[in-house]
Amino acid sequence: MLNPIPNPIARHFPGSRAAVLIPLSILLLISITSIAQQPSAATLSDAQVRERVESLLKQMTLQEKIGQITQIGPWPVPPENLKPEDLIRAGRAGSVLWTIDSAQIKKMQEIAVKESRLKIPLLFGYDVIHGYKNVFPVPIGMAATWDPAMVERAQAMAAHEASVSGINWTFGPMVDIARDPRWGRIVEGAGEDPYLGAAMARAQVLGFQGPRLGTINRVVGSVKHFAGYGAAEGGRDYDASYIPEELFRNIYLRPFQAAVDAGVGTVMSAYMDLNDVPASGNKWLLRDVLRRDMGFRGFVISDAWAVASLQVHGYARDPEDAAYRGLTAGVSMDMGSETYLKNVPKLVDSGKLPISAVDQMVREVLAVKFRLGLFEHPFGDLASKEKVLNDPEHRAATRLAAQRSMVLLRNENQALPLKKTLASLAVIGPLADSAEEIKGSWTVERGPGVSVLEGLRNKLPDAKIEFVRGGDMQRLFPMPWDAAEGRKATPLMPESEMRKEVEKAVEAAKRADTVVLVLGERASMSGEAASRASLTLPGNQRQLLEAVVAAGKPVVLVLLNGRPLEITWAAEHVPAILEAWYPGSEGGNAIADVLFGDVNPGGKLPVSWPRVTGQAPTYYNHNLTQAPEDAPGFTSRYWDLVTAPLYPFGYGLSYTTFAFSNLKLDQKSIKASGTLHVSVDVENQGGVAGDEVVQLYIHQRAGSASRPARELKGFERIALAPGEKKTVRFSLGKEELKFWSPETKTWVVEPEAFDVWVGGDSKATLHSEFKVTE
Ligand code: NOJ
Repeated sequence: MLNPIPNPIARHFPGSRAAVLIPLSILLLISITSIAQQPSAATLSDAQVRERVESLLKQMTLQEKIGQITQIGPWPVPPENLKPEDLIRAGRAGSVLWTIDSAQIKKMQEIAVKESRLKIPLLFGYDVIHGYKNVFPVPIGMAATWDPAMVERAQAMAAHEASVSGINWTFGPMVDIARDPRWGRIVEGAGEDPYLGAAMARAQVLGFQGPRLGTINRVVGSVKHFAGYGAAEGGRDYDASYIPEELFRNIYLRPFQAAVDAGVGTVMSAYMDLNDVPASGNKWLLRDVLRRDMGFRGFVISDAWAVASLQVHGYARDPEDAAYRGLTAGVSMDMGSETYLKNVPKLVDSGKLPISAVDQMVREVLAVKFRLGLFEHPFGDLASKEKVLNDPEHRAATRLAAQRSMVLLRNENQALPLKKTLASLAVIGPLADSAEEIKGSWTVERGPGVSVLEGLRNKLPDAKIEFVRGGDMQRLFPMPWDAAEGRKATPLMPESEMRKEVEKAVEAAKRADTVVLVLGERASMSGEAASRASLTLPGNQRQLLEAVVAAGKPVVLVLLNGRPLEITWAAEHVPAILEAWYPGSEGGNAIADVLFGDVNPGGKLPVSWPRVTGQAPTYYNHNLTQAPEDAPGFTSRYWDLVTAPLYPFGYGLSYTTFAFSNLKLDQKSIKASGTLHVSVDVENQGGVAGDEVVQLYIHQRAGSASRPARELKGFERIALAPGEKKTVRFSLGKEELKFWSPETKTWVVEPEAFDVWVGGDSKATLHSEFKVTE
């Protein structure tokens, strides 16, 4: 095992995070109510938690205290190569990172609770992001469902699978707002919007943790990456973010606030510099904003090696200074490194760091452990592990979630749904037969996956289905930790062979009634250290696309990806385009369900979709400008392209059509403390049942600051039978109308005029208006 060094790239070297898969599932039968009623393992009052913490703290040596604020990996700690088991036995570790071997977890926990002096149980932290063994769609796909209740149920299943396995802490949800699809980690969050992001953040925290910490079969969550990581300059992962305070509070912090309000137990501090101060050494961020303003009362874990990296940033002078700055800034636990372990003793002994500062961090960590019920229930439930991980309901849930996540981007002349009477189908594309890529990044225990090819074969068992790979793609630079973790890149198909593959694909297309072309990115092309300078289809996929379309057969394009890609050519030449994201374990079946009309797609984009890379960042909730597109002479703010994205935020088609009418506001004027109610009728005017995501946007016309052209302030996904009409209701009150004013540096609801629109995407036209008075 290599030694971790304080460098952001090298920090993954010790990793045993290799065997990562994804999972999730459905809780068709588990209602939110039943979730809320589950018994809690921990029923300690705040006062009891405080009392137990204080009584334990009194007994702890300095070394044991530092242990509680240290998260070790399952590898020896340099330079003495201290064995993890020995550190645990000596009370010198509070948590273990990146272990998913249930037997190893059990063994370590036994050492902690039976052999260590104070018998304090360990937290086992892992990235259970979109499932454990059963893999749900990647988070951006889950956000595209616009269905927080389903997302909550999915994360509850993931938490159940993790907790029986011995994992009691997940590093999620990731709630970073991402306006720039070049940033690889856009796949891990809910996209560009703070309101949708907050809804997804809340749902995930409740799913992971339950209504309170200590809910049985749940885990503690860690909302990340605090904060502003998604604003990395140029979309380059790890690069600095520069975010003015008003933008930070109005956009970037909103999903974090929702997670804190939902009771998230831990917060993960980010890697990057925020306005020139690294987030993991940023006192203003971790103390003033997180604790004072946002009311967070759990503990802060650094991102992996982020405390050590304070030196790499050119912020801390040396590891001792890094430990001092991390700890005093408010990082309660140091992830995966020995920076606290090695340096805090020196800092305390020299008198530079008062022991009270260490005590405070220990209190925060112990309180979470008590509230989680870890002292009473330190172990997973290995006896039920197999049953839980193989629960058919979980599997079914992943299929439902995948169906609901898909966004129909184009459907000219009702090219979709396809007919089940098709005699032959060509399935083409480098990702089409993969049962692994379809799960996306961040997966935990390996479970089976269904490729697009298999899903289509399951759907049409009697049709002639021909598969051609059609080409290949590869990262120019591998994942930074691939080599250290012993992963070798599969060699890229030689160009001559790729050309032959394209020819084969064209021949297969000519022989078939219809072509399903599956394009996108490999799972490793999205996620951490997966930023791109260009959003084009990687490898030879663009050539493949054009050649297959030129073959003249009906083509359906299915996208497997974690970010918007440049598909402007396809949007002009391919009649049907389905955004499937990385849909998870049951992805292939869910795609076939949608393509053949067993499921009517109802997902909507959680991000604006640029036409070309150069439009990035593009987002709908920008401020107005003196040169709007409809002003005389100003058709675009680029001279070579329209400003508008290819597809707007909130967009998605259906196999049916919906009509919005009768937009009513119960008051035309409210006080700043008041609430008004909005209602709208939505009718399914087509011949099939379908879902519509009803979206409400507002705009404040004047005020102490320029306000965004539109802001999402309400949504509901509804199902309508053919001909059915429903009335959907929203409320607009202080929560929706307030913003953080750069003038007053406070949250304000201003007495101004507002626009309101309701419709099926961010370009909604059904309009009304109201006023807020003093
Ligand atoms: C680094 C990533 O930035 C973070 O998201 C993750 O939770 C940790 N590593 C632990 O795996």
